[in-house]
Amino acid sequence: MRTHPRLSCILLSLVVPYQNVLVAAAIRISPPASAPDGAKSVSQGFLGFGIEGRSFADYAGTENANEFSKNLLSTFSSKTGVPVHIRVGGTTTDHSKFDPAQTNQATKNTTTENGLRTNITFGTPWVEGFKHWDNVLYTLQVPFARKNLSNAIELVRACINAMPNQVQDLEAIEIGNEPNLYPGADRNASYSPANYAREWDSFAGAMLGNISRLNGKEWFQAMAFAWKANPPWTVENVFDANINRDGFVKTVSQHYYQGRKGDSLTNVLMNHTNTVSTMRSAFQAAINSSHSHGNTPFVLGEVGSALEGGFVLGNSLGAALWTVDFMLHSMTMGIKRVSMQLGTNFDFPSWQPITVANGRPAAVHGNFYGQVFVADFIGKEGNLSITALSTDGHPNVVPYAGYNSGRLSKVAIIDLQAYDDDDDRPTRDINLTGLDDGIQRVRVGRLTALGGSTTQEGVTWAGKQWTKASNGTAVGPDETVVLDVKNGSPVGIVTIRASEALLVEIVRE
Ligand SMILES: *[C@@H]1O[C@H](CO)[C@@H](O)[C@H](O)[C@H]1NC(C)=O
Ligand SMILES: *[C@@H]1O[C@H](CO)[C@@H](O)[C@H](O)[C@H]1NC(C)=O
Ligand SMILES: *[C@@H]1O[C@H](CO)[C@@H](O)[C@H](O)[C@H]1NC(C)=O
Ligand SMILES: *[C@@H]1O[C@H](CO)[C@@H](O)[C@H](O)[C@H]1NC(C)=O
Ligand SMILES: *[C@@H]1O[C@H](CO)[C@@H](O)[C@H](O)[C@H]1NC(C)=O
Ligand SMILES: *[C@@H]1O[C@H](CO)[C@@H](O)[C@H](O)[C@H]1NC(C)=O
Ligand SMILES: *[C@@H]1O[C@H](CO)[C@@H](O)[C@H](O)[C@H]1NC(C)=O
Ligand SMILES: *[C@@H]1O[C@H](CO)[C@@H](O)[C@H](O)[C@H]1NC(C)=O
Ligand SMILES: *[C@@H]1O[C@H](CO)[C@@H](O)[C@H](O)[C@H]1NC(C)=O
Ligand SMILES: *[C@@H]1O[C@H](CO)[C@@H](O)[C@H](O)[C@H]1NC(C)=O
Repeated sequence: MRTHPRLSCILLSLVVPYQNVLVAAAIRISPPASAPDGAKSVSQGFLGFGIEGRSFADYAGTENANEFSKNLLSTFSSKTGVPVHIRVGGTTTDHSKFDPAQTNQATKNTTTENGLRTNITFGTPWVEGFKHWDNVLYTLQVPFARKNLSNAIELVRACINAMPNQVQDLEAIEIGNEPNLYPGADRNASYSPANYAREWDSFAGAMLGNISRLNGKEWFQAMAFAWKANPPWTVENVFDANINRDGFVKTVSQHYYQGRKGDSLTNVLMNHTNTVSTMRSAFQAAINSSHSHGNTPFVLGEVGSALEGGFVLGNSLGAALWTVDFMLHSMTMGIKRVSMQLGTNFDFPSWQPITVANGRPAAVHGNFYGQVFVADFIGKEGNLSITALSTDGHPNVVPYAGYNSGRLSKVAIIDLQAYDDDDDRPTRDINLTGLDDGIQRVRVGRLTALGGSTTQEGVTWAGKQWTKASNGTAVGPDETVVLDVKNGSPVGIVTIRASEALLVEIVRE
């Protein structure tokens, strides 16, 4: 982390006394004391990652664990008190085969190379990756593009055997990846949701018939549609085609990439209006369909800030702030879980697991900080619900309130105004009002960096950093600040600067 001349003045500006402040400038945030109607329940296991199949060995390790990844992952389970969810899959997995006799973790036929769609063969060392992580729940995607059922069954058995607690570490099996892209590629051009629903159901049935450790029926994650899925590939159509005829569907998944090549951080990611409108048009109907068919939970099984959008859209302070806004907004839509996609040398992962010659060095990226913020928002208490609060006429300032067992317990405030390193940083005062008489203190943590919103260095959450040099463990001072509450407001004004997020937690004795 580079040192910065403005450091001392920034620390002082964290809290300033009332008399030095222009009262009119304050943004008033008055969260209801009890969860309002329409607050959405938040799954304790909301946080997840997805790992592209061909990168799994880099992230997990083979014979030996990747300790850097292991420490980074344990950050999440230790904050939320539940296992972090990991979906292993993607286009590479869908085109894979498993060969237990193969001693390389993965091989591919380089004469028929076709990017992520290249046929790849995983060996026993790849499967050994599943033995390393404690406190993880897996969704295991099995290959479907090449339709080798007996091979998929063999793969599931081997992966379950490798997991520390075997079938208890398995959340679901996902059959195939992005079937909405199959027509004219992995299947004939007229391949339809009805064909998919039938194939999917018979694949799932045969897996249950062959793998005795899978007790019950609801073991399968369905759909896993690519971003963006267009009709006829809708959740409603696949349910109408009776995918759940035998009751095998556990969850419905779709994939999401907010931005794409050429997009600007400011206009696309640090833009709450855009996040809300894009997600509503892409997923609201799908969520409704999923919930109306047997109350099936809807998840985003593969998410990135931007597809081929460049490194700054994945590894920057602004990307971290998007991650917070995107995740908290997902919760308010009733989305059960999101898995942020990881892949070696990709632009958007939270971390790069190994140093690659002519590629990227092992490092933690900006997006990671958004996820640790959200992990602290979730916390350990449980029975959490969330509601979006009014922005008080400031479209760049996005507040959310969290409730444990219906009682206000935290407020997250994201300031998405872009900030360029060369300018003076705009600062706003937050007037948090109307807190219950019983509340005597709040604790404030800040997600920030000294550079501007595009900075790729020195992002911190409540003073902490997670780095390769620290082997993926937290380092740095604890910069949370505890403030007394008088007359329903913190004593002293809480300030937020352009391109920052605050988590205000209520401290109950
Ligand atoms: C905070 O909001 C309350 C309630 O609207 C108001 O009475 C108070 O003057 C505001 N304080 C500041 C510093 O803006
Ligand atoms: C990294 O962390 C792991 C797990 O905590 C530990 O076993 C290993 O010794 C650490 N390595 C270094 C270089 O600190
Ligand atoms: C690789 O693919 C080509 C073209 O399909 C085929 O001729 C060749 O036998 C394959 N090689 C291996 C090792 O499978
Ligand atoms: C991949 O394997 C499938 C059958 O398993 C075969 O039909 C297809 O041609 C292969 N693709 C390539 C690019 O080798
Ligand atoms: C399917 O997988 C099995 C091993 O699991 C293998 O013996 C068989 O050759 C595969 N079939 C095809 C068509 O690749
Ligand atoms: C396309 O594949 C589906 C099964 O996946 C099959 O039912 C259908 O007859 C095929 N259509 C053509 C034109 O080959
Ligand atoms: C077991 O898997 C095979 C394919 O390998 C399939 O043909 C068979 O129907 C399955 N058995 C049961 C009981 O589902
Ligand atoms: C934010 O997104 C909305 C909706 O996509 C768009 O209309 C607006 O122009 C964007 N704002 C900026 C500053 O780019
Ligand atoms: C989803 O359901 C809600 C009510 O539960 C309804 O207000 C909304 O219009 C529906 N949206 C879509 C796109 O179906
Ligand atoms: C969870 O919170 C709700 C209020 O939001 C409450 O009605 C319910 O009893 C709580 N459930 C448990 C198990 O504590």
